[in-house]
Amino acid sequence: MAISYPPGVRTGMVQTIRTIMSGAEFDMLQFVKDVQPQFGNFHYTQFGWVGFYIITDPELMHEILVDRPEEFYKLKLIKYALGPFLGNGLLTNEGDFWKRQRKLAQPAFHSRRIESYANVMVDYARAMMADWHTGETRRLDREMMKLTLNIVAKTLFDADVSGDADHVGELLTHILEASNDRLNSAIQLPDWLPTPKTRQMHKDIAELDVIIQRFIDERRQAGDDKGDLLSMLLQARDDDGGMMDDKQLRDELMTIFLAGHETTAMNLTWTWYLLMEHPEIMTRLKAEVDSVLGDRPATMADLAQLKYAEMVIKESMRLYPPAPSVGREPIQYLELGGYTIPKGALLTLSIYGMHHNPAVFPDPEVFDPERFSPENEKNIPRYGYLPFGAGPRVCIGNSFAMMEARLILATMVQQADFTLVQGQKIIPKQLVTVRPANGIVVKVTLRETQQTAVLA
Ligand code: HEM
Repeated sequence: MAISYPPGVRTGMVQTIRTIMSGAEFDMLQFVKDVQPQFGNFHYTQFGWVGFYIITDPELMHEILVDRPEEFYKLKLIKYALGPFLGNGLLTNEGDFWKRQRKLAQPAFHSRRIESYANVMVDYARAMMADWHTGETRRLDREMMKLTLNIVAKTLFDADVSGDADHVGELLTHILEASNDRLNSAIQLPDWLPTPKTRQMHKDIAELDVIIQRFIDERRQAGDDKGDLLSMLLQARDDDGGMMDDKQLRDELMTIFLAGHETTAMNLTWTWYLLMEHPEIMTRLKAEVDSVLGDRPATMADLAQLKYAEMVIKESMRLYPPAPSVGREPIQYLELGGYTIPKGALLTLSIYGMHHNPAVFPDPEVFDPERFSPENEKNIPRYGYLPFGAGPRVCIGNSFAMMEARLILATMVQQADFTLVQGQKIIPKQLVTVRPANGIVVKVTLRETQQTAVLA
């Protein structure tokens, strides 16, 4: 079958090697926006020996993720980058085995069950802010990571990691940095090669393994059914009555641990950044939160009235989708968008690129929560907004994440005002998630009326 390529950027070997040697960082987010006007919504980029397709078109996203998902694998590159860490958990698994595991985990994410997590989310957010003071500065991204990590551990494994949160957070950050290096590296080195980076990564993973194994052992010893994800996985039996082995359990827990906290933490971080830059939107959000909640803690029942908070979160996930792209590769040669694509080709479905595509969202760089008002939201092209992906591999935690983000945002708005510390350069960087490259430092001002409420 003759392969045919859509138009796109082609950079020769020499130029590519020069660029790599110069140490210049490749800014994927900017690149996707820059090439779109020239090459459209489906293009092919060749940098020396690496070629990849970029898709920013809602129809093609729909075709790949929803209509023809069985014709694609997840990217080998993602498995190479995250495999040592996540093993064969839900995010990286494939085929019938993935289907079985997804079915086992699904009940932990049913709406009735996740509603019971609301109190933990609010309690933990309030506890985080209980020792914050007016005038101090905080690294917001790190605080959000710690908070969402504690919440995922408590709600899904009933584990208290607050004592270890800093250490676990540090380990996860190191491992993610190593995974990102692997994702971006021009050459894939085998795992057995003992480079200092690989050795450190395996050491960090081993430390995290000890903590995860502790969750498993403690629950086995207690022998009780808490009805959470960990209990569901521990009790799962296959058709012959066999149990999941510890390695698979570990992989699932590690996957949820990672996928379940960093994305939401980044969503909250970017939401705060946007709110600090748009005081008029902040004022409206504050008015909503104050009128719905007053001084009392938020509950699940309040979410129906926190409509503007939801619009703000959705718009923030449009501008800064925490998962900026999903990757797929064809299992066989296939036709896509009028081209013949080879088996194993690297397809980048750029959620970020689509969310910044002016044909999908007019004035895409403008932060405007009104896009998600009930009357406007229906005008967004179907499959034009996909922060959680789509089709059978859609994010299992999407309702969990939407609930958590709204509850934490409302709780924080209720307690404090934040201002950006001047002189920072806030640069979004595409890693496994979209992170602020140097973090975001904010100055805290506790709200007067709330100070007494927190201390009471
Ligand atoms: C704002 C927060 C979140 C965003 C933007 C997000 C985004 C995504 C996306 C785009 C995918 C699809 C990946 C693909 O198709 O290749 C995905 C998958 C997944 N997410 Fe999330 N996620 C979020 C929160 C969560 C939470 C809170 C959890 C768990 C507690 C979670 C667990 C997972 C898992 C396990 C998968 C793999 C599902 C499968 O393939 O069966 N995510 N997520």
